Amino acid sequence: MKHFVNLSDISSEQLTDIIESAKELKASEYKHQSFARGKVLALLFFDPSLRTQSSFQVAAWQLGANVSVMQSGVNTWHIEHLPNAVMDGIAQEHIKDVMQVLGGYADAIGIRRFGFGGINDQPFFDAFFAEAQQFAPIPLINLESSVSHPCQSLADRLTWEEVHPNVEKRTIVLRWAPHPKPLPRAVPQSFVDMGVRSGQHVKVVCPPEFRFSPKYDAYFEQTAEEFGGSFCYTTDIPEDAHVIYVKSWHSLFHPENPHKDQELRHDYLGWTVNEKHLEASPEARLMHCLPVRRNVVATDAALDHSRSVIYQQAENRLHAQKALLNHIWSSF
Ligand code: CP
Repeated sequence: MKHFVNLSDISSEQLTDIIESAKELKASEYKHQSFARGKVLALLFFDPSLRTQSSFQVAAWQLGANVSVMQSGVNTWHIEHLPNAVMDGIAQEHIKDVMQVLGGYADAIGIRRFGFGGINDQPFFDAFFAEAQQFAPIPLINLESSVSHPCQSLADRLTWEEVHPNVEKRTIVLRWAPHPKPLPRAVPQSFVDMGVRSGQHVKVVCPPEFRFSPKYDAYFEQTAEEFGGSFCYTTDIPEDAHVIYVKSWHSLFHPENPHKDQELRHDYLGWTVNEKHLEASPEARLMHCLPVRRNVVATDAALDHSRSVIYQQAENRLHAQKALLNHIWSSF
């Protein structure tokens, strides 16, 4: 694997290897302490982060690597990405120069830049990441784009394997939730992608206006068929759910400006997940990628429920990303 921008960048064998390696690393935290001694991981953020930033820093340190963290427009330049841009605005540096310069210092580059793009493009295409990848002389890791968050999905899969180790075909439910702001579709789309690529039964419960685009639906159906799982929308969380993954995302009603769907989201304020949803699905574990707006997205009682695994899931970011870095630096 050279780059990890989307889950389709790795084969299902590589995915299994990374998850198994994450389990081993979790069981013996310092096993690969010196594996990456002398390596440097550059992290470039256009958007805020707690888990992604800190878990990648700790992952690299525990492997013996060093980390350089940059925030565009804060401690480094504002960065342009459009090809042939006339840079007479706020941006002082182009991503093609950034990638080639950092390629001379570091051994991998992680970038976070999300937002609301990609709705009319082919599934999982992000124009910024396409441009960055084109000029990346070293592995590029997606720390969340406008369309996908594959590192989160590695931790999600590790978590659902841990909480239901003896179930091969799990019923994993993605449940939309309210939020005061329109949120990107990266996490929910990657969650479904990971589910269908892992041969699971993925069910999405959301208001009709919040369904994925027809292109994504077709992609998920086709991928599910390829990997022996299934993908569908349902009206309620099924009683046999193994996982209830709570997440908010924006509607496609105003693709040019998702902030306009405020009124629409107001109609669904009653969709907050509560402990009754967990009680109705006795095997289900509650997952959320965090950060979460308590008592809006899900109640305290749900998030603090004995079957909530949100902190296990957050910790698994560390183990999954150590395994990913190990994999990338072993094969590059
Ligand atoms: N889940 C996640 O990516 O968290 P951060 O936004 O804090 O990195």
